[in-house]
Amino acid sequence: MTHFTPGDESAVIRIDDRRSGAGESEARRLRRLVSMHGSPLLLVDGAHLRRRFRQLGTALPGVGLYYAVKAFPNSAVLRMLAEEGAGFDVASCAEIDRVRASGIDTDRVIHTHPVKKIAEISAALLAGVTTFVVDNADELVKFRPFRDRVSLLLRLRFQSPDAVVDLSRKFGCDPREAPALLARASREGIRIGGVSFHVGSQCRDPRGHVAAVKGALDLVDTARAAGLASLDTLDIGGGFPADYGAAAVDIEAFCAPIRAALSRAPRDMRVIAEPGRYLVADAVTSVASVIGRAVRDGRPWYYIDDGVYGSYSGRLFDHATYPVDVFRTGSRRSSVLAGPTCDSIDVIADDIDLPSLRIGDLVIGRSMGAYTAASATDFNGMPRAAVVVTRDRADEAAAEPPFVMTATGSR
Ligand SMILES: Cc1ncc(COP(=O)(O)O)c(C=O)c1O
Repeated sequence: MTHFTPGDESAVIRIDDRRSGAGESEARRLRRLVSMHGSPLLLVDGAHLRRRFRQLGTALPGVGLYYAVKAFPNSAVLRMLAEEGAGFDVASCAEIDRVRASGIDTDRVIHTHPVKKIAEISAALLAGVTTFVVDNADELVKFRPFRDRVSLLLRLRFQSPDAVVDLSRKFGCDPREAPALLARASREGIRIGGVSFHVGSQCRDPRGHVAAVKGALDLVDTARAAGLASLDTLDIGGGFPADYGAAAVDIEAFCAPIRAALSRAPRDMRVIAEPGRYLVADAVTSVASVIGRAVRDGRPWYYIDDGVYGSYSGRLFDHATYPVDVFRTGSRRSSVLAGPTCDSIDVIADDIDLPSLRIGDLVIGRSMGAYTAASATDFNGMPRAAVVVTRDRADEAAAEPPFVMTATGSR
């Protein structure tokens, strides 16, 4: 087993290199991991992560994949994705530091936050990052002092109506205003080398991406014809969906219409994407333990050692509901599943059918890689979940039974 504490990560990351026997049940395996590493845990299935990266790469051939570090900024994940050939999309210099501390060169990094301090720009440049994003004139002129060293992407606003997380309310230039901004950049001598968009996160329908690709390519045609900018990069953002216990996402089917829309791109255009959620969400499982019980108004409450101030923070910040499993069987009744802090908002599920649980029982959260640990806090001094990588290389997939995802949790 390898123990290491990379960079400023609060959670210790451990590689669990003991292979379980082919017949080991998930319950036994998770109990074994908790007895080795403690509770709560976030288990990264490295083989699954690598598989996801390859599947998205196959579904979007020729598209450079820049992992959105914000989704799960974990060094082991960064390293595995770097080995798979990923680039990295960051929102801050702290994320750049995380990438560098993971032994990854900054020539694989793009900074895509549309609004940033000038000090952030100069520090990112000092670190070797030269691609940035703007979506308005104030942001553009921040690059005057650095004009010789940067290439910018102009972020456009296109919204996917079915995105669970809308990102177009806050960012993105109206495509109708883009030509004026491109003309301003040209006058300022600041190179805008391409366009980007993010249609919103967790889109179950690719039509938002398709419309955005079409809109962005129309702008590229207009800008090129008018001699405003050559715009040789198209960044199609993130938004690729994770499973969350629903029918598995067919990423090939999701990307087919996006591929078709991209086929219209000029031949000299570089196309990139910034996937976060799709790569990490379903690769991570939360394991927590029941630490307390109560009966309130006739309903059982179970308190576990992870909650909405911890790994389940995406309940609030990411509008996410995670499938929850337990291993105990028996008749189920409406129960409340609560986190460990003193705050009453710290409730993971208000009405969840659970069998009668005992202190020490494990509670398993599925699809818990995206925007979970990333927004966890130390509120009340509760320790964050330690991160354990359970399988690393894709070719190890056969060594362990696959995770069983059932609605009942009975085994
Ligand atoms: C600029 C940017 N790029 C990429 C992502 C990742 O998006 P997703 O997790 O939907 O793939 C986000 C998510 O907030 C983002 O803001």
